[in-house]
Amino acid sequence: MTERKILPANKTKNVTYAIRDIVVLAEQVAKSGKELLYLNIGDPNVYDFITPKHVVDSTYKAMAENRNGYAPSSGIKAAVKAIETDAAQKGIDNILDIFVTTGASEAIEICLTALLNPGENFLMPTPGYPLYTAVQSKLDLVPNPYYMDESKGWQPDIEDIKSKINDKTRAIVLINPNNPTGAVCKKEILEQIIDLALEHNLVIFADEIYDKLMFDGKKLVSIASLNKDVSCITFSGLSKNYLAPGFRIGWGIVSGRQSVMGEYVEAINKLLRARVSANHPEQYSIVSALNGDQSHLAEVNLRLERRRDITMNLLATIPGISLVQPEGAFYAFPSIDVDDDANFCRELLKETGVVVVPGSGFGQKPGSQHFRIVILPPEEILEKAFRYIGEFYQKYKNR
Ligand SMILES: Cc1ncc(COP(=O)(O)O)c(C=O)c1O
Repeated sequence: MTERKILPANKTKNVTYAIRDIVVLAEQVAKSGKELLYLNIGDPNVYDFITPKHVVDSTYKAMAENRNGYAPSSGIKAAVKAIETDAAQKGIDNILDIFVTTGASEAIEICLTALLNPGENFLMPTPGYPLYTAVQSKLDLVPNPYYMDESKGWQPDIEDIKSKINDKTRAIVLINPNNPTGAVCKKEILEQIIDLALEHNLVIFADEIYDKLMFDGKKLVSIASLNKDVSCITFSGLSKNYLAPGFRIGWGIVSGRQSVMGEYVEAINKLLRARVSANHPEQYSIVSALNGDQSHLAEVNLRLERRRDITMNLLATIPGISLVQPEGAFYAFPSIDVDDDANFCRELLKETGVVVVPGSGFGQKPGSQHFRIVILPPEEILEKAFRYIGEFYQKYKNR
């Protein structure tokens, strides 16, 4: 019999995930015995952050009590209630539906799938988290990036958004606080996005997975809280705020008008039922996380602020590098004066062992060059990494 290749679907061709792609090279470099300094992983548990005990205990307990069957497709009642109460504290009180998913990732994928037909588009913050563009490829959508304005502290560029809306635009994604920039969206910009969404009948996908990781005592303004009529789905979960990304627990909160959103919400629920349910025992941790002791948050934010300050003092001051000060989440997105950020990051890794993700992996204005770091590592690792980056950059520029 002649051998014939099994070929993958065309829609997988454009799926890239730069955050994990750099790991392949890192593994090769590690084999050479070089010490690696990981500034690339958005996973607090890889560093010195630990899931709060009460959050872990409730999953243990649920497992021991044999709550190991399937859960309801939208999530267990107690979790949905806890999410509702938490949303109300954020000022979101016009809720149409809440569902628990396998990480916010699954909620995002289901909501995009239930909304968009092939050939349509959603407005994607650029730079932004690459999951959205991966799903975009899977659904045969047309990319429609809008730019975040670095000269204005990485705020969404409203004029650019306006110019990108067309008759096939169905939604706008807002990542707030943002991955990869750490920027927090100003209230007046949120209001302008709401106006555009109402005018063009767009759904706002408000990715607020980092909403409790805010620096300098600031609180996030949830976009859904600013207008009762706007169609919005707010995403969050346990991965970041509650330091439990491996639980794979997230959720979506639909808000707006029932008369506008009703059919769409039913389509989301069809997809939720088709995939049965999210992890069951871990859903009990939603209840303990949202209703229980929140003291870890003050401590985590303090540590992140200290690490952010070190980043501003040691990385942002390297000649050729400039950096907008992050206000939340755990990332920074410096711009760098080189021709090709992917090449810079590869060479940096090979020569110094410092692992960062090239800006091109998150989308950026043509001609601009950046890299993303996570500010999660302990101070001494950050200090060492920034020293290496500074020394390496001088050599790289003189090549
Ligand atoms: C902006 C953003 N949204 C969603 C996710 C995925 O979160 P989850 O672990 O809940 O799937 C991440 C993870 O890094 C993220 O940065």
